[in-house]
This record gives sequence, C-alpha cells and structure tokens, in this order.
Amino acid sequence: MNVLILGSGGREHALSWKVAQSKQCQRLFVAPGNAGTAEVAENIAIKVDDFEQIAEFCLREAIDIVIVGPEDPLVKGIVDYFKAHEKLRHISLIGPGKEAAQLEGSKAFSKNFMEEFNIPTAAYRSFTASQLKDAQQYLENLQPPFVLKADGLAAGKGVLIINDLEEAKTELEEMFSGKFGAASHKVVIEEFLEGIEFSVFILTDGQNYQWLPVAKDYKRIGEGDTGLNTGGMGAVSPVSFVDEELRTKVEQRIVKPTIEGIMSRKMDYKGFIFLGLIKVKDDPFVIEYNVRMGDPETEVVIPRIKNDLLTVLKATAEGRLNEVVIEEDERLATTVMTVSGGYPGSYPKGKEISGLENVSESLVFHAGTRIKDNHVVTSGGRVMAFTSFGNTKEEALGKSYRSIAKVCFEGITFRKDIGYDL
Ligand code: AMP
Ligand code: GLY
Repeated sequence: MNVLILGSGGREHALSWKVAQSKQCQRLFVAPGNAGTAEVAENIAIKVDDFEQIAEFCLREAIDIVIVGPEDPLVKGIVDYFKAHEKLRHISLIGPGKEAAQLEGSKAFSKNFMEEFNIPTAAYRSFTASQLKDAQQYLENLQPPFVLKADGLAAGKGVLIINDLEEAKTELEEMFSGKFGAASHKVVIEEFLEGIEFSVFILTDGQNYQWLPVAKDYKRIGEGDTGLNTGGMGAVSPVSFVDEELRTKVEQRIVKPTIEGIMSRKMDYKGFIFLGLIKVKDDPFVIEYNVRMGDPETEVVIPRIKNDLLTVLKATAEGRLNEVVIEEDERLATTVMTVSGGYPGSYPKGKEISGLENVSESLVFHAGTRIKDNHVVTSGGRVMAFTSFGNTKEEALGKSYRSIAKVCFEGITFRKDIGYDL
C-alpha cells in the first residue's frame, strides 16, 4: 500500500515509524513532516488543511490510505471532501467525518452527545454571548473552581479553571467578546471534577472497535504538575491504576455507549477515538473527546502495539475490526519530551541539535525539528520525545533520561518527574 500521513509532530513520527515497518507498506509520505519523519518516509511540503493539494498528490502517487494525525483537517471536513469526489472515493481515510469530528470541534456538541447517550461527564450548560446574564447566574450556583470552556478549537488553550467567582464572571465576558476568537462565542460552563486523569484510545470502524494501550500524559510544564499547560511533556503506558475493574467501567459506561451513539446518529467514523478521562473516587468520567491520537501518548501507545499497523488500519477502513486482536507489548513504555527554553511562552528556533547518534537505549520521536544545512535544528516548542521500554517504570525512565543526557541543544528543558504519580 502507498500511505500518506498528515501532520508534523511526535505523533506523526511515531505513526510513520510504525507504518514503515509494515510488510504491506510500499511507499510512505508525510505531509509536511519533520526531520524525524524524513528518516522513515518522504516528506512533502503540503499543509494538512490544503485538501485540493492533498487530493492531487494522492491521485498522482496512487495513495491507498491517508492517516490523518491532527484534528484540524478532520474538523474542517477532509473525510467528507474525499467522499464528495468520485475520483477520490477509493482512497481510505483514517479519521471521522465532519459531523463526528464535532466531538472534538465543539464542546457543546460533545456534551450534548454525552447527555443523550448517558455517558458520565461533568454537569454543564452551554451559553452564547446574548445569554451573558444567565451564564453569570449559573456560575453563582456552582462551587469553585469554575470551569469555562471555549466551544470551538482553541489550540488547547480554550479551557480556563478559575477559583474566584468575580474573576470567572469577567473571564466569561472576555470569552464572549472574542478572547479565543470565534471559538469562544459559545462557552460551556461545567462542574469541576476532582481526580486523576488518563487517556484511553479506541480504534473504530464505526461499528466494531478495539482498545489500544492505555496511557497517561503530563501536561504542565513544571514538576509535580505545576505551571502552565503545554502540548504534553511526557507519557507512560500502561497506567497502573487502570485495573480490570476500572477498565470494565470505562468499557460499559463510556466506550460502548460512545460507539452506539455514533451508530445511532449514523455518523461516519473510521479512526481513532481518544477519550480524555478522569477517575473520580472509583468512577470514570469523560473530560473530553478527541477524534485523533494524543501527543505525546502516541509515542508510548504505538510502540507497545505488536500488530502490523497497516493490517489493522486496513481492517478499520474495510469495516472488519472485529477480525483484529490487538497485541500489546507486556513491557511498560515511557516517553519524556524535550522542549525549547521558554516554552510554552516564547522560545527561540533554529538551535542545532547534537548527539543524536549516541542514543542507543531509546526511540527518538521528533516533534519540532527540521533539517537546515544538513543539520537537525529545533523548529518548535516541543522538540523531541525519548521513548523507552522497561519491565518497571524506573527502568524505562532511566533509559529515557540517560538518552536525553546524550543529546544537546541550547535551552533544552524537560520534566524530571514523568510518571511520579503512578
Ligand atoms: P480539555 O481541553 O477539555 O481537555 O481541558 C483541558 C484540561 O482542563 C483537562 O485535561 C483537565 O485537566 C482540565 N479540565 C477540563 N475540564 C475539567 C473538569 N470538568 N474538571 C476538572 N478539570 C477539568
Ligand atoms: N496529550 C493530549 C492531546 O494530545 O491533546
């Protein structure tokens, strides 16, 4: 098969690294990719939301399957675009159609979906700008902290958690006036849930589904989960507290009703579902749906899958996921993300990265890197993830940290406590 992967992060490097190992893979392209994907695939300079150019490329190179990494093209309707054009219909896309992508693209849509199908989530109401007074009144009836969510995609920044009522009311007003652009013209206000978060990944063909390895990511920049939110500083898989009992609850209360909901609303969905969950006392609740794989979770989830990934994705595209058994590596995997100094605030780019050739104990998945004058240089906030296996968390993390010590770029920053709460 000829394969095109859309995206340019650590997630896409991990996916392309795995697809490249498939016996069924003939030619592999990543658009636009990074310095890491260039090692296993051919990078092509096309933007992930330029549907026309993507379609033209797919026809020219006889692409059989397109794996969509990030949410943006899905929410903009890339799957529907391919379905709408006769000459593109033979190409399989891994990702949901535009309507189902609203599970991530609109918080109000996803909360309404969970309400309809009785899926446990925080109590909520959604409001538009003309309902400012009602929304502020609703806040008065809640206990702090207050959770305010921009309805639309806001690059992971659209969720505010505020302790003070007056501040929450002011923030709400600012959101309605465009703090997050059009994404916050509608706002979901919800109850705060206290617990520990984890990420469940499901692959579905719209009817059948399979679990992928469970993971936990670490979002804050600072040790002990302090400081600003980032795109993700590290991850561990599996997750020690997700035992059989919790897994069964997630399956019965969340996964099954989600798939039934997708079927009952006749939504087109052949792809990954990322359930952002929180364990409150002994029960799981949904914090959010994402319609793609997580990053950096993919950097631990994908290496733990023993199956040939293209065989699994082909079965997904053909509605035969019931025939697939996902085999998980028994070992534990950790990934530690190195980031540019200053991230998630402003940071320099173009810093030369050295020492990569000395890494032998870990897989290095590139995120914000590119090639400049034959050198790998930084090109983003999150630079590269160091993934390692071990029979224990300590063993795996020891490898990740030893590998990082061999690599150098100016300002290199990483969390030294990944997995501290497991
Ligand atoms: P989201 O973009 O919906 O994943 O929200 C970003 C982060 O905010 C989540 O990963 C949680 O840590 C936190 N969060 C979101 N909603 C809630 C909630 N209802 N209760 C507690 N924390 C939340
Ligand atoms: N790791 C969280 C995300 O990918 O959204």
